[in-house]
Amino acid sequence: MAERFDVGVVGAGYVGLVTGACMAHIGHTVTCVDKNEGRIENLKRGKLPIYEPQLGEMIARNRKRIRFSTELHPLVREADIVFIAVDTPPGDDGAADLSNVAAVARGIGRSLSEVERERPLIVVNKSTVPVGSGDYVSMLIQEGAEEGPNGEVSYRVVSNPEFLREGSAVYDSLFPDRIVLGAEDREALHTMRELYRPIIEQSFATELDPRPTVAVPFVTTDLASAEMIKYAANAFLATKISFANEIANICERVGADVKSVTAGIGLDHRIGPRFLDAGIGWGGSCFPKDVRALMATAREHEYEPAILAAAVSVNERQRRLVITKLQRDLHTLKGKRVALLGLSFKPNTDDLREAPSLSIARILESRGARVVGYDPVAGKRAAALMPEMKVVFDPYEALKGANAAVLVTEWEELRNLDLERAATLMARPRLLVDGRNAIEPAAARAAGLIYQGFGRE
Ligand code: NAD
Ligand code: UGA
Repeated sequence: MAERFDVGVVGAGYVGLVTGACMAHIGHTVTCVDKNEGRIENLKRGKLPIYEPQLGEMIARNRKRIRFSTELHPLVREADIVFIAVDTPPGDDGAADLSNVAAVARGIGRSLSEVERERPLIVVNKSTVPVGSGDYVSMLIQEGAEEGPNGEVSYRVVSNPEFLREGSAVYDSLFPDRIVLGAEDREALHTMRELYRPIIEQSFATELDPRPTVAVPFVTTDLASAEMIKYAANAFLATKISFANEIANICERVGADVKSVTAGIGLDHRIGPRFLDAGIGWGGSCFPKDVRALMATAREHEYEPAILAAAVSVNERQRRLVITKLQRDLHTLKGKRVALLGLSFKPNTDDLREAPSLSIARILESRGARVVGYDPVAGKRAAALMPEMKVVFDPYEALKGANAAVLVTEWEELRNLDLERAATLMARPRLLVDGRNAIEPAAARAAGLIYQGFGRE
């Protein structure tokens, strides 16, 4: 039988909560700590701070093995393993701001110096942090310890980057493509393998089949390489999307259809079919921040990252293309009503960090358009962030009187929009800019809409 551990998770956000819930689900005892008292109070009452499918059920089902708290100290006293899963937002220069990670590391050091422990505490960095952060965290724990009564503390730092996607975070955590661990200490790696054993062997109870039939690869390496794997993975995926967008822009000019082209190239196993969907481009809390952070790291070391810079520039151009496409049929934007359908940065989440909808809405407003937004779950949050945008809670309400609509986020509900009803409600010229190539052009045109996709004229 797999060993059971006392696991601490600091940061009860997307990564921390999902990690905590999944660790409890595979049999460990979990304490989730966050500095945000309101968040912890709500969690104790069963109220989630984020919209993430299956997370609520997962927490409720394993509630007896999960505690929520604002106090780091008891966690450091009792846990075998502590995950740091706090946010690492971009600083002004694009580099990752490590102040939250640093505060937690110092706090762990201080608490460690006040408690008696039999075994070294394993401190696992799950936040996305630049190369070298493992050593930095180690140094800060030591510094924190020296502020306390007993400077001699025992701990091991491990890097365990997270690859979950919002919207399918629980699934991705239980059925990952791989688990990456970086550490200098073999015993710490051994403990981490034991911690993850039910996932590696896929031996936990689940209704979330289909599960992989083979063991999940467990990649062990040094701290710096593990940290780099995370950035390289996100940068590659973002670049792959930008590549698809570049091809789409060429397709548009030569009369090819990017959907057929990416389907055709994706069948080559060396390329693969995923992350080739052309459109408005990538947003969210991670790709933009992590690509910029990797570029900052490269420049710090006097290397100019040409491919990454191009990926960012193509991505920025895609958002501006929405405006160009709108102008092609609306001519001027002044006084026109534009409906933005889908506001979160991708479907199945309410996350609006770096959401394309917000920057598109700002440009439209600055050009004198009246913007009406709709999203199945992120509407209220969007209204709070952008008071000048009118947010409604029904897609057809947003379409009423709109001269144009932009499908920004391909929620299932919006992929299946009643196009005839949309055309009846809209005002001339009844333009639909499909920012995700999610709607059949022929069906939209048959319903009486002018259709513009990306790379499929
Ligand atoms: P988040 O903003 O959703 O959650 C972070 C939480 O940490 C917040 O609740 C915040 O209050 C808490 N926190 C901050 N400082 C704290 C402190 N000193 N003590 C206690 N709690 C503190 O962030 P997230 O999206 O979960 O991302 C966390 C990290 O994981 C980031 O580095 C991110 O790049 C990385 N990551 C995120 C995803 C994702 O899909 N969101 C996926 C992979 C990796
Ligand atoms: C991404 C990665 O996929 C995760 O592996 C990683 O853990 C995470 O970042 C992170 O580090 O936080 P996420 O941002 O949740 O996950 O969502 P994705 O599904 O990757 O989508 C990112 C953006 O790319 C979205 O705006 C999406 O609309 C866009 N996208 C995605 C495309 O434009 N085309 C595609 O083909 C795929």
